[in-house]
Amino acid sequence: MNTLKEEQALLIATANLAKESAYAPYSNFRVGAALMTDEGDVFHGCNVENSSYSMTICAERNALFQAVAKGKKKFRAIAITSDDAGFITPCGACRQVLSEFNPDLEIILSTAGGDKKITTLSKLFPVPPELKKLARKPRKTGKK
Ligand code: THU
Repeated sequence: MNTLKEEQALLIATANLAKESAYAPYSNFRVGAALMTDEGDVFHGCNVENSSYSMTICAERNALFQAVAKGKKKFRAIAITSDDAGFITPCGACRQVLSEFNPDLEIILSTAGGDKKITTLSKLFPVPPELKKLARKPRKTGKK
C-alpha cells in the first residue's frame, strides 16, 4: 500500500466532493475521482458527458489530465467514488491511460455508503502495451 489511512480518507473525501460537479444528464451516474501525486498533491475530476455519447470523459481521466496539465507526472494513488451502493472500477480506457504514468498505481474504491476497498492497477490492467519503447526512438525530422 502506498498510502496511509489518513491519505485514503482525504482522497475519498475529495473524490466525493468532485462527484458533486459531475455533468451526467444522460446516465444520471455521477462519478468522482481524486489522484495523489508522489509529493502528496491531490487533483480531482468528475465525469463530463456529452450528447454525442462517445465524447464523454470519465472522472479518472479528467483527474489525471488536470494533474498533467499542472506539470505532474508521478502518481501514488487514485480514489474513485459514485452514488452506487457497490464498488465501481475504472473502465478499460482509464486503466490504460492511468497505466501510462504508473502501471502499479494504488486504486482506492469507495461506495456511496462509505465502504472502501484497495486494489492496484497492475491487478486490473496486468499487461499494459509497451509502445513507450517505440516512442523513445529518435525521429528523423529532416532538420540538420
Ligand atoms: N464513468 C466514470 O466516470 N468512471 C468510471 O469508472 C465508470 C464510468 C462514467 C462515464 C459515464 O459518464 C457514466 O459514468 C456512466 O458510464
